[in-house]
Amino acid sequence: MVTYVDADQSRKRAPGVIPLHGEEGFAGMRKAGQLTAKALDMLVDHVRPGVSTIELDQLAFEFGQDHGGIPATLLYRGYRHSICTSINHVVCHGIPGDRVLREGDILNIDLTYVVDGWHGDSSRMYPVGQLSRKAERLIRVTYESLARGIAAAIPGNTTGDIGAAIQTYAEGERTSVVRDFVGHGLGKLFHDEPNILHFGTPGTGPELKPGMIFTIEPMINLGRPHVKILNDGWTAVTRDRTLSAQCEHSLGITETGNEIFTNSPGGLFNPTDPE
Ligand code: MF3
Ligand code: CO
Ligand code: CO
Repeated sequence: MVTYVDADQSRKRAPGVIPLHGEEGFAGMRKAGQLTAKALDMLVDHVRPGVSTIELDQLAFEFGQDHGGIPATLLYRGYRHSICTSINHVVCHGIPGDRVLREGDILNIDLTYVVDGWHGDSSRMYPVGQLSRKAERLIRVTYESLARGIAAAIPGNTTGDIGAAIQTYAEGERTSVVRDFVGHGLGKLFHDEPNILHFGTPGTGPELKPGMIFTIEPMINLGRPHVKILNDGWTAVTRDRTLSAQCEHSLGITETGNEIFTNSPGGLFNPTDPE
């Protein structure tokens, strides 16, 4: 059985209980989500051959300093950076460093700012120069997977409907869905209930109710779905070294559908489909 509780009264919650947020939470998430989206927009022009991922990390940190956003990943479980930078076969949680971007790389930047205590979590793909056709196709499939997941995120559906929509589409395109990382509730907490699997069976899992706030963040591989973690304890890579892509929005369930908090003000969310 699934239980839900008013987010205001949920400071100490039993595991598995899903918080339902009111207008205050939605307003807070809008503000945090928009600052994150603005920073991800700002980074577009900085992603080019010769730039190192640590430089991008520095830019995201400074943008937060200037605009009132604290990177949630700084000192999170020992993580020491403002963003994750995942290149090519890196699935997620790539650590910024000296690695210099090269023509043809596909980069995911994942950023979460905390603004007034609320977490705006989003990630996008950044092509470095001209891409191979298969890299371009993977990015398109990944964005469409997220779009299908968001379309299923409506009241009365279940979390399993979201996962099933993503999996059905992605596997139909001869790509695979990573199982090891999931979307998550968020709000005043970075990672909260519910878990949003990017695969699954329609009609299973908790029912979606107005006030639920969570991310959808599918990781899609050209090859097999399996990942391994490198010795740094963070970097997840495809076991078969095939390309992987990811994109992520934070959204809230409304009475009639959902509200995406991390839409790009510049229309730059999907690099293969500039608005
Ligand atoms: N932003 C990631 C997410 O989508 C979490 C990154 S945690 C880190 O949930 F420590 F690796 F940065
Ligand atoms: Co994220
Ligand atoms: Co997330």
